[in-house]
Amino acid sequence: MPKYIYEAFSVSFINSICQTFNSMIEMWNKRYAQNEYVYGKEPNEFFKEQILKLPNGKILLPAEGEGRNAVFAAQNNWQVESFDSSYKAKDKAEKLAREKSVELNYEISSYEDAKYEANTFDLIALIYAHSSNRQQNHQKLIKFLKPGGMLILEGFSKDQINNLTGGPKSLDLLFSPQELKADFDELSEIKLTETETYLNEGEHHMGRASIIRLIGKK
Ligand SMILES: C[S@@+](CC[C@H](N)C(=O)[O-])C[C@H]1O[C@@H](n2cnc3c(N)ncnc32)[C@H](O)[C@@H]1O
Repeated sequence: MPKYIYEAFSVSFINSICQTFNSMIEMWNKRYAQNEYVYGKEPNEFFKEQILKLPNGKILLPAEGEGRNAVFAAQNNWQVESFDSSYKAKDKAEKLAREKSVELNYEISSYEDAKYEANTFDLIALIYAHSSNRQQNHQKLIKFLKPGGMLILEGFSKDQINNLTGGPKSLDLLFSPQELKADFDELSEIKLTETETYLNEGEHHMGRASIIRLIGKK
């Protein structure tokens, strides 16, 4: 293929990826535009159960949305860093933090742009933090964990494609046990469960759902 055709093709390919990413951000900004908290103000149940077992320290919450988990961590004396690509998510998370009189550090950032010092966090929690470039994003996060730090994840499994109770409508964005085991291969003491649960976290996470939970240690 002549070089100029190849370059034109590459530019249009990159443009189309950027457009997809921007329209994804717009979709989330629209979803969060309402006054209601889309996933509620209470933390995810698995997150709550796990964080309460750990000594507090520094936590990172990627793709944290409206801040329900970040605020709960801060209320339990964790030093909280979080990020999300939606500015509306940040506004609502900061509003919730003010309401509960706690402090968060919340960046507007994609996984790709997220920058933290290596070996910084005692805990990273990925709660319904589905994204494209899954493997790359997950492996990047491991670097930010301190040795001995924990990672916890709850997200939809590929079986969720058959349910109308929440989650991405693309198999590529849903998780399989094999993918997650490979992504977090560097962690030890991995506990992974694929199960069905009943979600009651607002209208977008409501009803019987197929999920995966993972806990691992760096
Ligand atoms: C289902 S919501 C979950 C929010 C939060 N973790 C919770 O459990 O309430 C998914 C979030 O992922 C964010 N997100 C999706 N792709 C992202 C990316 N590439 N980088 C950063 N955030 C992303 C969206 O903006 C959205 O807030």
